Amino acid sequence: MAESPKKEDIVTGILEEETLDNIQHVNNPVLDVPIVEKKYLNRILSYSKKGNVFIFTDGKASVEVKVFSDEIIRVRLAPHSSFLDDFSYAIREDINLHPTSFSILDLDDAFLVKTNVVVCRVQKENFLVSFENMEGEVMNADYKPMHWEENPDFGGYYVYCTKHTPEDEVFFGLGDKSANLNLRGRRYQNWNADTYGFGFNQDPLYKTIPFYIGVTGGDAYGIFFDNTFKTYFDFAAEKNDRTSYWSEGGELQYYYIHGPQIIDVVKRYHELTGTHDMPPLWAIGYHQCRWSYYPEANVREVASQFRKRQIPCDAIYLDIDYMDGYRCFTWNKRYFPNPRKMISDLAADGFRTVVMIDPGIKVDEDYWVFNEGKENKYFCRRGDDYFMEGYVWPGRCQFPDYTNPKVRQWWGTLYRDLVEDGVAGVWNDMNEPAVFGRGTFPDDVRHHFEGLRGSHRKAHNIYGMQMVRSTYDGLKKLQKNKRPFTITRAAYAGTQRYSSVWTGDNIATWEHLKIGVLQLQRLSVSGLSFCGTDIGGFTGEPDGELYTRWMQFGVFSPFMRVHSAGDTRDREPWSFGPEWEVICKKFIELRYKLLPYIYTVFWRQHKYREPILRPISLLEQHKPENLQREEEFGFGHNILVSPVIHPGQQSKVLYLPEGDWYYYFDHTLFVGGQEHKVETRLDEMPIFVRAGSVIPEFPVMQYTMEKNIDALKLNIYWGSGRYESHVYTDHGETFAYEQSVYNEKYFIVEGEQNSLTIVQHIEGLYHERFDSYKVYFIGLPFDAHHVEVDGDIHKILMEEGKPYIEVEKEFRRLTIS
Ligand code: GLC
Repeated sequence: MAESPKKEDIVTGILEEETLDNIQHVNNPVLDVPIVEKKYLNRILSYSKKGNVFIFTDGKASVEVKVFSDEIIRVRLAPHSSFLDDFSYAIREDINLHPTSFSILDLDDAFLVKTNVVVCRVQKENFLVSFENMEGEVMNADYKPMHWEENPDFGGYYVYCTKHTPEDEVFFGLGDKSANLNLRGRRYQNWNADTYGFGFNQDPLYKTIPFYIGVTGGDAYGIFFDNTFKTYFDFAAEKNDRTSYWSEGGELQYYYIHGPQIIDVVKRYHELTGTHDMPPLWAIGYHQCRWSYYPEANVREVASQFRKRQIPCDAIYLDIDYMDGYRCFTWNKRYFPNPRKMISDLAADGFRTVVMIDPGIKVDEDYWVFNEGKENKYFCRRGDDYFMEGYVWPGRCQFPDYTNPKVRQWWGTLYRDLVEDGVAGVWNDMNEPAVFGRGTFPDDVRHHFEGLRGSHRKAHNIYGMQMVRSTYDGLKKLQKNKRPFTITRAAYAGTQRYSSVWTGDNIATWEHLKIGVLQLQRLSVSGLSFCGTDIGGFTGEPDGELYTRWMQFGVFSPFMRVHSAGDTRDREPWSFGPEWEVICKKFIELRYKLLPYIYTVFWRQHKYREPILRPISLLEQHKPENLQREEEFGFGHNILVSPVIHPGQQSKVLYLPEGDWYYYFDHTLFVGGQEHKVETRLDEMPIFVRAGSVIPEFPVMQYTMEKNIDALKLNIYWGSGRYESHVYTDHGETFAYEQSVYNEKYFIVEGEQNSLTIVQHIEGLYHERFDSYKVYFIGLPFDAHHVEVDGDIHKILMEEGKPYIEVEKEFRRLTIS
C-alpha cells in the first residue's frame, strides 16, 4: 500500500484550494511575500479551428486542443491567450503523426473533439477537460479547471492541472524515482539533482521524465506533461480522490495518450519522444569500471586478468583521473604516457575504452578548451552578464551552454583527439548540472534555448540531455557514422534518442539492489530502456553474496557495468574469492550466450518501441493484484526473471504470467498465471523462458565478435499452441540498418502433442557470415523420430540429451515429430 506523504515531502508547492489563503512563493519560505491568487478557467465563450487544432476561450484565457494521432491529444493553456512558442526538446524532430480522422461536435453543454479512438470533452460551463473511449467510459477527467498563478519574481505563471482519481487507480512511470513501482499516495518533484548515496523514496534524483501511466478499471492511459521547469506530481497524496501536476513556470502543456494497454501507452509515448538507436554490439556486453583505473599499468592489469581468467568483458572505463588536473579532453601524461598505444593494445585484446567527460571546464588561461569557449562566448552567464562559475572536480569552472546549437556543435568536435586516440565511447556525468557546495546553477543563469532564451529555471532539467546530445552527434560524425556509445547521468524525456543512462551513485546494500530492480523497470516504461545500475553498489562495500546476486541482476539489466567509488576495495568479478568468481563468470558468460536474444530485444525497442524491461503490471494488467507486483519482470518477450534481492535467500515466491514457462537451468516446466515457490541456489537465479519461444544463442566469447559463428544456435522451447519469436542480426556497428541492412527472422512455432512445426520468414538485406542453424529442441512431449525441412528428411542428432538438427538458415518450414 502507498504510504501517506511525510510533512517534509509536501513543503513546496501548496496545491489545494482549501489552503489557497496561505499560498506563498513556492521557493521562498519567508512569510511576508505577497499572497498570489490562483486563477481558474471560466465558462467557454467561443472556439476556433485550424486543421487539427482547436482553440477554446473564456474571453481571457485560451486552451488549445491538438489532435496528434488517433490516440494522442495535446492540451495547452495560455492564461492570457498568447501561447508560447511551440517548441520541445522532448519531442522527436522528425515526428510524423496524423490522425486518420477527427471532428468536432458542438453540444449544448460541451464540445467534443473526436478521433476514431478517443473523445476529448471540453465542458462549456466550467472548462473541465476529460478523455473518453468510444464506449463513453471516462479514462481521465479534470477535477477542477486548469489554473495558474502569477509568478511575481520571474514573470510567467505557475501552472496546475488536477484530475479525478478513482479509488482503484494506480500510477507508473516518472523515470528514475527510487520508490515502489506504483506511485499512488506520493508526491514527486522533478529537478535534476546530484544525489550521491540516495535513499529509498528520496526525491528528486538525477532525471526528469514527466510522464506517467494511470491504470483504472483495468485500462491504461498516459499523461506526458512536457514542461522543463521544476515540476511536481501528486498522485492522490494530498487528497485521495485527485491527482495533480504543476510547474513553477512555462506552459501547462500535456499529452493525453490513450491505451488501453499499458504497453500501447508506452509505445505511443515513444512515438512522441523517440527510441534508442541500435547500440553497437559491444555496448551490450559486460563492462568494467571504477573510479578510477590508473595508471596505465593498472588498466592493463585489469584487462589481462579478464583474459587470463577467461571472464568475458567488452569495455573498460576511465574515470576522471585519466585527465590532466580534471581538464576534459586532456590526458594525464604521468599516468598515461601513451594513451593511443594503450587503447590500441586493449582493442587488440577485444577491449573498448570508454572515457568520462564532465561539463565543468576549468578556468585556466593555458587550457585550449577554456580559451575556445571563452573567445566564442560559449559559457553560461548569470542574469547580470557575469560568467556562471562554480567548483567541480577541476576547481573553479565555467560551463558550456548546450542549449545553444553552436555550442553543441563545438562540443561535439572537442572529442576529435580522443576519437583519434581510439576512444570508443563517452560517459557524461555531473550534468544535472552538479556544482559543489551550492548543488547546481542559480536560477538567474541565462540560456540560449535554441534562440528562445530562458533562465536556468527553464533549462536546468534539459541541460544534461543537451550535453549528451552534443556528445552523441559529435561522436557520430567523428567515428565516421559508427553507432556512438554514450551514457549520461542526467536526463529529460526523450534523452533515449542520444544516450543510455545509469542510476547514479547508489549504495552497496541489499536495499539498493532492490531499488535498482525498481528503477530499471520504471526507466524502461519511461522511455529510457537502455539503463543500468552500478553493479555491486557505488559507495560502500558489498560482500561476495551481494556482489554476485547483483551481477546476476546485471545480466538482465539492459546496460551491464560494474562501477564503484574511489575509496572502495577491488570490484572485479574475481575480487571476492574463487567461490564467487565462478558464479560471476557463469553469469557473465550467460550474458554473452544471450547476446543475440538481447540484441533482438534492443531492435524491438528501437523499431517497434517495445520497452526492454516489462513489469508484470505491463504484461498482465487485467489482474488487479498484478498492478502491485514489482520483483519479477520480462526481459524482452520471451524471458522472465526475478532477481534474488535478500541475503541468504534459499527460495522465493514469484508470479509467472499466463502460459507455460521453463526454468532456464534445468528446463522444468511451470504453469503460469499463478505464483510458485522456487529454490534460489546461489549459482542460479530465477530465470524462465516462455514455452513456444525461439531463443538464439552465441557460444561464450571473451568479447563480442571475438568469434565467427559458423552455425547459429536456436533453442526451441516446445509449447502447446502457436507462438511468434524474432531474431535480429546485423553487423553490429553502423547505421546501415536504417537502409534495411539487417535480418529480422520471424519464427512461428506451433506445438502439438506429437509434433512441432517452425515456419520462418526473413526480412532485410543483411548477409550473415553463418549459413546454417543448429536447432535444439527443449521440452518435446514426444520421442522425436522424424524431421522434415522444406520437404527433405533430416537426421536427428543428440547433444547432452537434447535432440538437435542442422539446417540451412533459409529454411521455410520445419516439422519434427
Ligand atoms: C560521480 C559519478 C560517478 C563517478 C564520480 C567520479 O559521482 O556518479 O559514477 O565515478 O563522479 O567521476
